[in-house]
Formats: sequence, C-alpha cells, structure tokens
Amino acid sequence: MRMMDKIADRKRSWSVRGALWLGIAASVAIGGSVPAQSAEPVSPKLTDTLRDLLRKEMVSVEDASKQILSALVAGDDARVAELAQRIHDSFILQQSMTPEDRKNLMAAVPKGFVEQDRAFHTISAALADAARSGDRAQQQEEYGKMVEACSACHVEYATDRFPKLSE
Ligand code: HEC
Repeated sequence: MRMMDKIADRKRSWSVRGALWLGIAASVAIGGSVPAQSAEPVSPKLTDTLRDLLRKEMVSVEDASKQILSALVAGDDARVAELAQRIHDSFILQQSMTPEDRKNLMAAVPKGFVEQDRAFHTISAALADAARSGDRAQQQEEYGKMVEACSACHVEYATDRFPKLSE
C-alpha cells in the first residue's frame, strides 16, 4: 500500500514521510536533469523541529543505503528487501510529527520537493520488490536510480548543505 493511502487510512499523527507524500500525483524526472541555478535550499525554510526530523531521516536513509550496497554485493536479497522497505516506510519518524509540524512543513516546502521525495520512495519500494523476487539485475538498477534520486534532490534543495553540487 502506498504511504499516502496508509496515512489516510490510519488517520493518525502525521509523519515527515506521510506529509511529504501528500498531494501531487505528477511524476518527476530524476537523474541530475535539474539545472543547478534553480537551486532553492529547503532547510532554512523549516522550523527547528522539522529541520531536525529531516536531518535524522537523512542520516538513517544514508545508513540504510550503505548497508544495502553491502547486502547487494553479497547477494543477500532478504537483507536488501528489509532495508529498502525500511527506507520506504521511514519507520522511526512515523509517530513523531504533530499536526502543527505538518502544517508548517506543507507551508515551507515547494511542490517539487514533495515530488522528488515521492519519486525517491517509489524507487525504494521497487527495490524492495526486486529483492523479494530475487531479481539481482533489477536490484542493481533500482539501487542506481536511488543514488540518482538522492543527488537530484540535493542538487535542487540542499546546495546549502552540499555546496559542491552547485559547482
Ligand atoms: C526529497 C529530497 C531528498 C532526497 C530524495 C534525499 N535527500 Fe538527503 N537531504 C535533503 C535535504 C533538503 C538535506 C539538507 C538538510 C539540512 O541541511 O537541514 C539533506 C541532507 C542530507 C544529509 C546530511 C544530513 C545532516 O545531518 O546534515 C545526508 C547524509 C543525506 N541527505 C543523505 C541522503 C541520501 C544518502 C539520500 C538517498 C539515499 C538522500 N539524502 C535523499 C533532501 C533529500
């Protein structure tokens, strides 16, 4: 089930993940096609709470993606599936956003950021699926797309944190 549906179903407190998933059904081009001059860092627009949640999520996503690489090259399909699913579900943050946080978040981030996040999580679901079906070529392809999705979002929305991306 897609995260936005899950959130709607459960009608529970909003997570960063759920809130970011809300809204736009448009697909988004990933893979570095975004020109650097359109860069518009998102972090300064966030409340301290939201910024903290986003950074925590990023650190945990990065950790999971490194572990996925190790599992991938070891042929550990079950581990890849588990980690990709964890990224998709962003479990740790699930409970931590209040309705006010959510309001602030939606007011602060541009549509494009929501779309990039959505695309990223679609890829993590595809990676988990490929791992569950034991398709290693597909896992590698989805992993490549995932890395592209990280940098595509950073180049547009996190050049304050990663200035070399705008060089
Ligand atoms: C939808 C956009 C988006 C996607 C996708 C995304 N990031 Fe980020 N990331 C950000 C933003 C925005 C920041 C800057 C946060 C800040 O400085 O407050 C960031 C910051 C980070 C940081 C620094 C965290 C810190 O404590 O300063 C790391 C590490 C990171 N991302 C890793 C990743 C990895 C690895 C992926 C992919 C597996 C990824 N990100 C995907 C938007 C994204």
